[in-house]
Amino acid sequence: MKIIRKIKELKTHLTKLSKQGKTIGFVPTMGYLHEGHLSLIKMARKENDIVIASIFVNPKQFGPSEDYKKYPRDMERDSKLAESVGADYIFTPTKNEIYKEDHKTYVEVEEIDSIMCGASRSGHFKGVCTIVLKLFNIINPTRAYFGKKDYQQLVIIKKMAEDLNIDIDIIGGDIIREEDNLALSSRNKYLSKRERENATVLYKSLKLAEDLIRDGKAVEKVKKEAQNFLLKNKYVKKFDYFDIRELYTLKEIKEKYPKNILIAAAIWIGNTRLIDNFIINR
Ligand code: PAJ
Repeated sequence: MKIIRKIKELKTHLTKLSKQGKTIGFVPTMGYLHEGHLSLIKMARKENDIVIASIFVNPKQFGPSEDYKKYPRDMERDSKLAESVGADYIFTPTKNEIYKEDHKTYVEVEEIDSIMCGASRSGHFKGVCTIVLKLFNIINPTRAYFGKKDYQQLVIIKKMAEDLNIDIDIIGGDIIREEDNLALSSRNKYLSKRERENATVLYKSLKLAEDLIRDGKAVEKVKKEAQNFLLKNKYVKKFDYFDIRELYTLKEIKEKYPKNILIAAAIWIGNTRLIDNFIINR
């Protein structure tokens, strides 16, 4: 496995590979890899000749009071993990390699970037779309892999690809969880022992909502019960949203449940923001 820091060097390799007609699977990440990331790399390994993972903590998707500076970084550990599941290249550019001082261009996917996580993280998805499109343009992969853990991100990237005629297959990978069902996240590292134990409340609230929906309870009632359940736990410091939406459009469900439903929530356990979701097919 090769670790590459410069765009020009990566392009030299890519030109050779494309001349040989190789398919390229791309997995963008911000590093501090866990089984969630590795599951995407494994999927890319199965479906492509060449696998590239990027590791770049993208400053433009963090708000001014967010955790950009303290976001966990460990390149040595990451490269061992990525290699162990068959990555051929890690592209890990510096901030200056990616954003020149006079960077002026951004990509926005309107409306769906301002609901759910976008409501409390203004500009977040603009930062995500901009870096993902830049990476797509640098790498020009055949397929790109995103986790359903960040389901809204996956929908937004798919929409960006459709709207901007980006000829890359955008593929979603299932959520990988700990044994007690907490979704894996690089941010779980911030949790104290007690917070970690209580973090399962998020999964449990989604399960509760799923059961209520299957029992035919009205949307507003389900949301209220799930919210009450979450706020009962004293480790839940803040509650961002608990949403029930149509799976593909992310439109809010008002009355009748459609066939495919997304239940998604974001909460703060202490100073750590956690998100999770369930997909329900009825
Ligand atoms: P990051 O949070 O590092 O996640 C990289 C990819 O791993 C994303 O597609 C995310 O959905 C997926 N992932 C994270 N946890 C997962 C889990 N438990 N199960 C399955 N997949 C999981 O998402 C980003 O980075 C950034 O926004 C990025 C797309 C790289 C742009 O900067």
